[in-house]
Amino acid sequence: MCGIIGIIGTRDAAPRLVEGLRRLEYRGYDSAGVATLINGHIDRRRAEGKLLNLDAKLRENPLPGIVGIGHTRWATHGGPTENNAHPHATPRVAVVHNGIIENYQELKDELIAHGHAFESATDTEVIVHLVTHYLNQGMTPVDAASASFKRFTGAFALVLIFAGEHDLMIGARHGTPLAVGYGEGEMYLASDAFALAPLTNRICYLEDGDWVVMTRERCTVHDATDTVVDRPVKTTAVSGALIGKDGYRHYMLKEIYEQPQVIGDTLNSYINPETARVTLPDLPFDISRATRLTIVACGTAYYAGLVAKYWFETLARLPVDIDIASEFRYREAPLPEGGVALFISQSGETLDTLEALRYCKRQGQKILSVVNVPESTIARESDAVLMTLAGPEIGVASTKAFTTQLTTLACLAVSVAHARGAISTERMQEIARALREVPARAAEVLAHDERLKELAAEVSEARDVLYLGRGAMYPLALEGALKLKEISYIHAEGYAAGELKHGPIALIDDSVPVIVLVPSDGLFEKVVSNVQEVCARSGKVLLLADSKGIDKLKDKVRWSVELPACDPLVAPLLYAIPVQLLAYHTAVLKGTDVDQPRNLAKSVTVE
Ligand code: G6P
Repeated sequence: MCGIIGIIGTRDAAPRLVEGLRRLEYRGYDSAGVATLINGHIDRRRAEGKLLNLDAKLRENPLPGIVGIGHTRWATHGGPTENNAHPHATPRVAVVHNGIIENYQELKDELIAHGHAFESATDTEVIVHLVTHYLNQGMTPVDAASASFKRFTGAFALVLIFAGEHDLMIGARHGTPLAVGYGEGEMYLASDAFALAPLTNRICYLEDGDWVVMTRERCTVHDATDTVVDRPVKTTAVSGALIGKDGYRHYMLKEIYEQPQVIGDTLNSYINPETARVTLPDLPFDISRATRLTIVACGTAYYAGLVAKYWFETLARLPVDIDIASEFRYREAPLPEGGVALFISQSGETLDTLEALRYCKRQGQKILSVVNVPESTIARESDAVLMTLAGPEIGVASTKAFTTQLTTLACLAVSVAHARGAISTERMQEIARALREVPARAAEVLAHDERLKELAAEVSEARDVLYLGRGAMYPLALEGALKLKEISYIHAEGYAAGELKHGPIALIDDSVPVIVLVPSDGLFEKVVSNVQEVCARSGKVLLLADSKGIDKLKDKVRWSVELPACDPLVAPLLYAIPVQLLAYHTAVLKGTDVDQPRNLAKSVTVE
């Protein structure tokens, strides 16, 4: 998703803006640009595609100036062309913007009637024309900006600089994150603290509705009612060093390999190794008394929620409603009195998930979230937060965030199950021990990397791939298919194995690999029958199973990978890894951009 940065500085801004943009690359983008003030005039360089292209333009035609703004754009309104790239500008003002101005067409018509000429197909361009319109009426930059902010609907974070104003930068946050950085005689604004880390570690996270007027020495924060407010300035631990690939070819591979470590870190914060008891931080409400749990998330985080539903219902006997956030938020779901709503998000900024959270809050629900970024909006707006300790995830395709979400949710489900009396202390300890074994077992699964790479050569030839699983393996089938399609661009579908005969079985022939996830659990025999159905129709099955499954099916299936036997409850954590590796190696063979797949964004802050 778009990344924004602004510097009101004492030395050349452009190289530092580009460095900040490099740190925002992980969000996903398809064009980039910077603008600075040169002798009071706004000048810009913009380029389609990756930052390399912008860098080349800046080398050819450098952009001096100590005040500037920069942007990585993930196209929403208007294609990813240079003309649509930010910053957008008039001779009087320039803007970088993340989000969508929903009423842009209405504003554009009004501004065209006033004689403004537009040059891009973006919603963003109305921002600079509206501010210019007010400046032309004689308003000061601060008044023109504040009057404009009141006219925009939708979600936006933006930064403005003004021609002739060398000591002024204005920013606004409305539904999309924006952080202020305090430097030595300099001030900064950016989408996140990570972009600012080489410049400062003193950060203020703006609240929704805030807008700021900045000079080199001061930042005045106004809230949504224009009242001047104090917002705390925190020292962050985000490192100024660019997170490296540590010798791995891609961030995604590095992050897959980090899983034993980060699952272990997450477990250490929720399981007492001496008592083998799951101990969660004190929550300000008692989730075990809830009559129903509502889980909402998007993408991979939603699949983690689907696994959790299985755990909450089977282990804790707690009924769960689960939905994707973009559907849930407009459904006006009736929610139980005193209910608990659980939100799962790596970034903590996904707009649909955040809006679903706000809906639940308005309905009087207690809000619990599982997030990876402690300063995120979802974390800050929740009544209680359980952290996943995945560390920064840079690859757009989520891997270690998913398995640490599963780890956290497993601990939560076990703790709720015990508190509700649905499982004994012994069973809780048994599961806790099985969970503590996961990092070691995950390392064993990683040892199959070479074999999965060989199998990826087969998968990379396919046009369609099916993933099958039952119970908690059904969401893993969905996640496996999602991983494959998002990074290799091969069409893939995840199906509940029992649903096969209601449609997808028609697709089966010897050109469609069918990847079956089947640990030895209560549903094992059922899946075995489904595998037979596929084999009987010349389907070529890749079996992911433990030794029992391999023994039973090895003569029937085309390929197999033997995974460690484990408590069925922890199987989703282990079976996530081979589907990640298979997708990764397939994408490498296809030659796609593994870490930044086309059209995708890491954190989706628009609807
Ligand atoms: C995007 C990312 C996915 C992620 C989803 C939800 O689509 O590319 O990897 O699963 O958003 O993001 P969140 O940050 O809320 O977990």
